[in-house]
Amino acid sequence: MDKFVIYGGNELSGEVEIGGSKNAALPLIAAAILTPDTVTIRNVAPLVDVRTMMKLLRILGGECGLEDGTLKIDTSSLNNFEAPYKLVKTMRASIYVLGPLLARFGKAKVSLPGGCAWGPRPVNLHIEGMKKLGAEIRLEAGYIIAEAAKLKGERIVLDFPSVGATGNIMMAAVLADGETIIENAAREPDITALAEFLNKMGAEIEGMGTSRIKINGVSSLHGCVFDNIPDRIEAGTFLTAAAITGGKIKIKNCCPGHFKAVCDKLRLTGCEVDIGGDWVELAGCGMIEPVNVTTEVYPGFPTDMQAQWIALMSKAKGISRVRETIYPDRFTHVAELMRLGADIRMEEGAAVGHGVGRL
Ligand code: UD1
Repeated sequence: MDKFVIYGGNELSGEVEIGGSKNAALPLIAAAILTPDTVTIRNVAPLVDVRTMMKLLRILGGECGLEDGTLKIDTSSLNNFEAPYKLVKTMRASIYVLGPLLARFGKAKVSLPGGCAWGPRPVNLHIEGMKKLGAEIRLEAGYIIAEAAKLKGERIVLDFPSVGATGNIMMAAVLADGETIIENAAREPDITALAEFLNKMGAEIEGMGTSRIKINGVSSLHGCVFDNIPDRIEAGTFLTAAAITGGKIKIKNCCPGHFKAVCDKLRLTGCEVDIGGDWVELAGCGMIEPVNVTTEVYPGFPTDMQAQWIALMSKAKGISRVRETIYPDRFTHVAELMRLGADIRMEEGAAVGHGVGRL
């Protein structure tokens, strides 16, 4: 599919089950490289990025199959250590194979991802983390070439709580000699899920979900069966879509605690939001109140919900300000909204706009 055709003007109402998290699944798939045993991950959505990660594992010599949301991975015959540019450029998260390849095989060659639609997105924190663990790293013709006879535990202080760097360093450190501490670690649920998955494989990780993660290196990991977490961005997106159209929606099979910041902001718009153990119900309101948002690392308002929030605010009955602090250039959608009639101007890293009621 290369385009969506949307006929607007209808309320979005009804019930919907939330699928498995894409951003959590990608590092889980990469983590399967850490053991020659078979791992099984349930609740995996058949999305393009998931298929790309599976393709990467196959290029490396592993086997994987996804059926009815259950992904089985066997990397016992893995024999190639290169993640090629043509694949990495299509999905930045391919960098997740760096840590596991280094940890199990002592070598990895991974293409640099290059820029993306929201500007340059460096991987310096991943590289510095691997170096701290004792890897020799050189950059050659657009590739990260990493080698380490045996990684050694270290204290690593991240300049920024990067999700990707935290996950990659954690995966490298589980098979390292001794103890690794990651300070200023990402606290996203994806990282907690990854740590729980690794622990199920025999790793010794503590402190996930906090900014200080402690990893005791072990000599080997084994296979396991793991349930992926629901997608918090999909959940927030459905709720926001219902709010935009004034509909009534119930999302099921989700973890409301993972997107509390979004629910809190939705309440402030005047929508009714009821939260249960694994469901959230939202009833839209006639007139959306303007609500300012600043994107932040977890548990703050997620950058991956910023575009949806600006779309919602384009309907609000006053001025709102949406500030992006994770990716300064992540505003390409604003021009499209303006083409549809939204009244938005850019001001010091924030989109400021007056809702127009209907686009
Ligand atoms: C993940 C999510 C993405 C989400 C982002 C922030 C996946 C597959 N993607 O991306 O959807 O928007 O978290 O919640 O999980 N940075 C550096 N150096 C690095 C790494 C990151 O400067 O080595 C910067 C990035 O350019 C960016 C910020 O840190 O400005 C956040 O990046 P990071 O948390 O690493 O995001 P990703 O893991 O790439």
